[in-house]
Amino acid sequence: MATRRLSSLLSSSYVVAASSRSFGRYSSWGRGINRFSTAVALEEPITPPVQINYTKLLINGQFVDSASGKTFPTLDPRTGDVIAHIAEGDAEDINRAVSAARKAFDEGPWPKMTAYERSRIMLRFADLIEKHSDEIAALETWDNGKPYEQAAKAEIPLLIRLFRYYAGWADKIHGLTVPADGPYHVQTLHEPFGVAGQIIPWNFPLLMYAWKVGPALACGNTVVLKTAEQTPLSALYVSKLFHEAGLPPGVLNVISGFGPTAGAALASHMDVDKLAFTGSTETGKIVLGMAARSNLKPVTLELGGKSPFIVCEDADIDKAVELAHFALFFNQGQCCCAGSRTLVHERVYDEFIEKSKARALKRVVGDPFKKGVEQGPQIDSEQFEKILKYIKIGIGSGATLESGGERFGSKGYYIQPTVFSNVQDDMVIAKEEIFGPVQSILKFKDLGEVIQRANATRYGLAAGVFTQNIDTANTLARALKVGTVWINCFDIFDAAIPFGGYKMSGHGREKGIYSLSNYLQVKAVVTPLKNPAWL
Ligand code: NAI
Ligand code: MG
Repeated sequence: MATRRLSSLLSSSYVVAASSRSFGRYSSWGRGINRFSTAVALEEPITPPVQINYTKLLINGQFVDSASGKTFPTLDPRTGDVIAHIAEGDAEDINRAVSAARKAFDEGPWPKMTAYERSRIMLRFADLIEKHSDEIAALETWDNGKPYEQAAKAEIPLLIRLFRYYAGWADKIHGLTVPADGPYHVQTLHEPFGVAGQIIPWNFPLLMYAWKVGPALACGNTVVLKTAEQTPLSALYVSKLFHEAGLPPGVLNVISGFGPTAGAALASHMDVDKLAFTGSTETGKIVLGMAARSNLKPVTLELGGKSPFIVCEDADIDKAVELAHFALFFNQGQCCCAGSRTLVHERVYDEFIEKSKARALKRVVGDPFKKGVEQGPQIDSEQFEKILKYIKIGIGSGATLESGGERFGSKGYYIQPTVFSNVQDDMVIAKEEIFGPVQSILKFKDLGEVIQRANATRYGLAAGVFTQNIDTANTLARALKVGTVWINCFDIFDAAIPFGGYKMSGHGREKGIYSLSNYLQVKAVVTPLKNPAWL
């Protein structure tokens, strides 16, 4: 019964959270971390059911080598082995891509096409993703390390949904007529900016692609997208499908490469009219500065977080534990909105700790291509080392290590599901974004206190609230300074729901109707009325 009721809280088939429902079933397959041998991660990696066909830069509808001829390896997080060598874009390639996007905007068909035609192409693209969803999910798992079942059952359906959603918007974008105080006919035109530069991270390569490319193209912009150096594969694959769906050359250009080279060239380019970025707050500040110092292009930023997940005294503990576990450990903990401060009321705290520990010990870690695996490896050695360093800091600062704390296996970038209790607000693990499978549990006494503590951070991306009390839910929803409050649910990511940050978690909103304003500028057209008396 308890499980069913939790499932009903996570009921949409189009939400990433849907995966937790499926994994809830698999959790009973786990046999405790002490008993599932490290051999799980040491077994020969399963051969991914997909081939790598696209490794070059996509400029003006063609796959081309980089101007320098350089390549970089993209690695399998399960082993650290090379999957493929990828053309490495740099400033010259960004120049070529921006020129192609400029031409496609100024002279080419995209903004001149009817909005309905643009919508049709985006719908055909969504159909092609659906047709090839198995290969796409496999590429995403291979390059990123996330469980295949999660990619296939949650992310790819959401990717399809996002493009259908934005296709639906393409022919519904229009201005207003404005009642001015005077004899004027006034109207507004909602027009695309031109060339949108977009920089995305590696944690959800395809969802970030859709959040960026979808609204930009629906609004009639053209795009230069710089993918994350850790995960270049899936964007190249799907962009090929986009062209098969009828996307004209130059409308969407995809550059693989590194941040300080290709990314910086895009952010500071004088002919890029709009910039959108998702990643760390630190890099967000850098790209915002570059945009300001070049041509003052407007910037949308979706940055880091340290989101509270608040478990109130009336909570059903079993459900709260499961949801808090999901809120933190989903996607190997690599979520900008991860519920990384689990704040639990003192009356239920001890039971919550015991059960959270037991749940973490049951978490199934292993080859992400293996059925039933809930947690794969972290993305790369840098993140792996960073997370292990935070675990050491947590132990050193006096937090109680309840489970995990070490790498999992001896190969690749797997980390044991780690739970700390007795975490205090001033500890580094309670303040900084760990971006890994490390849950920090803190205790609170009353609502006023938890509001103040939850808000005492530079970040303001999201929050989870677990309570049956409607007044507590409403009070917390209004008091928390964050862009999303999930009440008795978490990580609900439907295409129509806006997402973005308060404070240093970012500027602007992605998804939903609000995302369109990132890619549109408003022109006022004013015409005098010669004979207002006749109207
Ligand atoms: P990052 O913010 O440095 O990288 C994100 C994107 O920005 C990548 O495409 C990267 O190539 C690009 N980039 C990096 N430096 C740049 C520069 N100087 N100019 C232009 N573009 C640049 O994130 P990174 O290094 O992968 O991870 C560091 C930390 O950031 C993580 O540990 C995590 O805490 C956070 N992060 C947050 C994400 C989110 O969804 N908000 C996603 C990824 C990382
Ligand atoms: Mg970085």
